[in-house]
Formats: sequence, structure tokens, C-alpha cells
Amino acid sequence: MSQTVAVPTDLVDLRGRDLLTDVDLGRDGVAAVLTRASALKAARRAGSEQQRLVGRCAALLFEKPSTRTRTAAQAALIQQGGAAIPLEQGSSQVGSKESVADTAAVLSRMCDLIIFRGAAQQTVVDLAAHATVPVINALTDTWHPTQSLADVMTMREFTTSVEPIRLAYLGDARNNVATSLLVTSGLLGLDLRIGAPAALWPEQWAIDLAQDLAAAAGGRLSLTEDPMAAVRGVEFVHTDVWVSMGEPESVWSARVEALSEYQVTAQTMAATGRSDAKFMHCLPAFHDRDTDIGAQVCAATGRVSLEVTDEVFSSPASIVFEQAENRLHTLKALFQLLLIG
Ligand code: CP
Ligand code: NVA
Repeated sequence: MSQTVAVPTDLVDLRGRDLLTDVDLGRDGVAAVLTRASALKAARRAGSEQQRLVGRCAALLFEKPSTRTRTAAQAALIQQGGAAIPLEQGSSQVGSKESVADTAAVLSRMCDLIIFRGAAQQTVVDLAAHATVPVINALTDTWHPTQSLADVMTMREFTTSVEPIRLAYLGDARNNVATSLLVTSGLLGLDLRIGAPAALWPEQWAIDLAQDLAAAAGGRLSLTEDPMAAVRGVEFVHTDVWVSMGEPESVWSARVEALSEYQVTAQTMAATGRSDAKFMHCLPAFHDRDTDIGAQVCAATGRVSLEVTDEVFSSPASIVFEQAENRLHTLKALFQLLLIG
């Protein structure tokens, strides 16, 4: 017999809002998404999920590849009784024959939500400016705000400490995932330590924004070039790929040289000083040679893995697939809150 799990009523009204950067929902808005996501996850586990988005549809305007974000968005809508319409790069008129503004106007007449993944943050800003339905940033070169929602949900599920959650991020700290994790950590008052070479630290505007948010929320943010100092005492060690989508292949060799010391290894996990420390990664990850790019870069550099060893990735400390699953629950919560409350 299935158990009934009540979906809580949230304090903030997010209906009609856009999610273009990590600050857009505010601290209460993020809390509302996370609360709803946990309730939806429990309901799905219990077999008592209620379909609340019947007949709703989202346009998925994706310039870049995706496994998790696209699947989570489509699965969330299907499970809620709605649908998503994939508009892959080159399969619609946008860019070649139709402007972003006109595309936003057209999609708004047919869909309830526009979800964009692409390179320029300005594109998603322009979409939102011309759309009359909520627009969600599903990753740009600058931000990945739906990822950080799942990251925080996952850390809250696994933390055994009193708040604030203590986490470290090692690797390319200027990328979209790092920027979103930094700013969300500031917004929620977490204790984030970034370990990266100074040349790959977040852009100054992102550090300043996160520091201001952290000061207001009682959080703590620090940056160091010493990876072992960065992870000391943390419960969660995050990393991401060393070269992101859209960056030229030619940067791989310099990036591997710059970041080798920041690879997450068994020694890194031991340096946390916590036997219960967890490893996190937004995925996809180069933890072995079983991908075309991983095999090529490893062959060229004489390595067997890149940002994380397979030993850590495949260890009980790794919660990457729980983190991936939470993309589903957080996106579903976000869709409900933006569309119907
Ligand atoms: N983490 C993440 O966004 O994965 P995809 O690129 O597969 O969507
Ligand atoms: N930083 C990575 C994240 C992938 C989900 C990229 O942009 O390729």
C-alpha cells in the first residue's frame, strides 16, 4: 500500500519568476524549492506522487549537449502529466533565421516554460526579456543554477554536522558550476573553501557577490592555492571537468598541467580528516579512459584519469549518482513552484 506524503505549502510565491542566475530565487525561494523537492522525492519513493502539471509543456532550447539536465526536465514533466519539446541546436529556426526575441515570443504563445542551455548568458537574459512565461537557465558559460539546487539538496541529505555545511571545490574554479556553487553557498550561508591556482579562481565579480551574500547570511568563503588546506575539515569535496563545453581542445594540455595537483585522490579525501567525507561531481566526469575525450587526453598526457581518480569516483564516499538523481526532484519542484505554486 502506498503511503501519502503531503506536499508542503511554501512561504514564498515563485510563480512567474525566471531562474537565470543563482541569486534570482533568493534565499527563501531556494529553501522553498529544496523543501518541495524533498517532498516530491519522498512521494515518488512512496508511489504517491500527484500529477500537478497536467497539460503543461516546456520548450527545451538546447545549444549544448546534455544528459542529466535534459532527461531530468523531460522526466519531471512526464511524471507530472506534462511534456517537454526538445529544440536541439540546428533543429529550430533560432539563430539562423529567427532572432532570440522572436523565438521567445513564439514559444511563450505555445509553451508554459522555456528552458535554455547554451553559451552566452546574454542569450538567456534576452529570452527572458522577450518571453511572457518563466525562463530557466539550464547552463551557460557563466552559470549553472539548476545544478547548485541539486548540489545543496544532496549535501543536506548526507550531512551529519550542524550547519553551516562545510564544503570544498577543487579544480577549474572559474567555470559555470563553480560560480553557481560559490554564489549559492554565499546566499545560503555555507562554508565553502575553493582550492585552485589563482589564475583559475572565480572572476572577481563572482567572489565579491558571494562574499556580500555570505556576510549577510553568516557564511564563510575562502580561496587558497593549496588543495590539501582547502579540504581540511570539510564534509563534501566537489570538483568538475578541467575543460568545459565550448572551450577549445587546445587548452587541455595547459589545463592538465595547471590542475594536476588539484585532482581529487584518496589522499585528498584523507586530507579532509573526516572518515565520512563525501565526493561530489555534477557529471559527466573523466575518472577513467572510457570516454573519447578522456582516452585522448590521458593518452596525450600519460594519465589514467583527470579531475578525479576512479578509486575515489567508484568508492563508497562518492555520492555522484544521488546528486544526479536530485536533478530530477529539484527541477520538478522548480517547475511546480514557477508554474502553479
Ligand atoms: N550536470 C549536468 O548538467 O549534466 P548534463 O550536461 O548531462 O546535463
Ligand atoms: N563545467 C561543465 C559542466 C557540465 C555539466 C561544462 O560546462 O562543460
